[in-house]
Amino acid sequence: MTKVSLDWSSLGFGYMPISKRYVATYKDGKWGPGALTDDPTVPLNECAGILQYCQQVFEGLKAYKTKDGRTVTFRPDQNAKRMVDSAKRIEMPPVPEAMFMEAVDEVVRANKDWIPPFESGGALYLRPYLFATGSVIGVKPADEYQFRLFGTPVGNYFKNGVKPITICVSDFDRAAPRGTGHIKAGLNYAMSLHAYMTAHAKGFDENMYLDPATRTYVEETGGANFLFVTKDGTLVTPKSDSILPSITRRSLITIAEDMLGMKVEHRPVAFSEVADFAEAGLCGTAAVICPVGRVVDHGKVIDIKSGMDEMGPVLTKLYKTLRGIQMGEIEGPKGWIHEVK
Ligand code: PLP
Ligand code: COI
Repeated sequence: MTKVSLDWSSLGFGYMPISKRYVATYKDGKWGPGALTDDPTVPLNECAGILQYCQQVFEGLKAYKTKDGRTVTFRPDQNAKRMVDSAKRIEMPPVPEAMFMEAVDEVVRANKDWIPPFESGGALYLRPYLFATGSVIGVKPADEYQFRLFGTPVGNYFKNGVKPITICVSDFDRAAPRGTGHIKAGLNYAMSLHAYMTAHAKGFDENMYLDPATRTYVEETGGANFLFVTKDGTLVTPKSDSILPSITRRSLITIAEDMLGMKVEHRPVAFSEVADFAEAGLCGTAAVICPVGRVVDHGKVIDIKSGMDEMGPVLTKLYKTLRGIQMGEIEGPKGWIHEVK
C-alpha cells in the first residue's frame, strides 16, 4: 500500500474517500458474507426503502495509533450492540455483532496508512451504517438491506478544538416522547438540521434541546450528550428516554467513579439548574469532550462559571483520562481497548 501523505495536524471533521470499505448484503432472510471493496459509491433502486421511508441506522467510532505504534479501537463491541438496538426499533435485520466487529477490524487493517499518527491527536473515524435497499412503495419495512462501513481521517469536531462553545436553547425538538431519540437513526439527524442551521445563522455553535414533553429538562445536542459538574465536583449527566445512550458518556461515568473517585449522578436535569453548575460540556465520539461556556435561552445569557477561555478543571481531568485510555497511554477498564493486528 502506498504511504499516505496528508497534513494530519490540520484535519477537521470531514469526509474523504480512502482505500477500502466493507459491504455485506441481507437478502432472502439472511446475511451474506461481507467483503472489502474499493468502490465508494452505492447503487440503489429508485424505490429503495432508504430513499422512500428513511430506513437507516448508523454508528460512529474511532481507530487510533498509540504512542507505542499499536492500532486500536475504543469499545467497538458497544457500538455493535447499540446498532442492534437501533435496527430493531425501525424493523431492520440487526447486523450480527461478530460481523460488525469483523467489518471494523478489516476496514482498519486495510486502511492503516490513513490513521492519523499519534502525535497529531487525530483518529480514523469509522462510520458503520445499515440501510434498506429493497423496494417499498406501501409503507412497510423493506426486505433487502446493506451494511457498509467506511473510514475517514479526522481531527477536532468543533473548529476551535477544545475551546468553550456557546449554545442556544432550541425552539425545535430533536426527538418525540416515545419516539426514536434513543437510537442512532439518520432520521433523527434530518430532524435536527433545520434547528442546527437556525442556531448557526444566529451565531451559536450548537443547540441545547429540552425534553419534548415539558421543555423543562435538558436533553442533548444534535450529536452529543451533556456533562455538568456541580460546585462540589459531582459529575451530573442528564437521564432521559429520548436521548442517545452515548458510549463516551457511559465510559466517562465509569472513569469518574472507578478511576477518579468522583461522585456521579445520572438523573433528569432541570434546565433551571444549568446556571448553578460550575462546568458544562458535550461528549461523544466525534466531539470527545467539548466545553460549553455559555448557554443562551431566548436572549437570557447563562454564563457557566468555568468561563469562555478554557475547559474547567474537572472536565479537563476527565478529558485527559479518557484520551489517555483511548490513545493507549493510560490503562483503562478491561476490554475497552481492542487492538487491530
Ligand atoms: N448523542 C447524539 C445525538 C449523537 O449523535 C452522539 C454521537 O454518536 C452522541 C450522543 C454520543 O454518543 P457516543 O459517545 O456513543 O459517540
Ligand atoms: C459521533 O460522535 O460519532 C456522531 O455520530 C456524532 C455526529 C458526527 C453525528
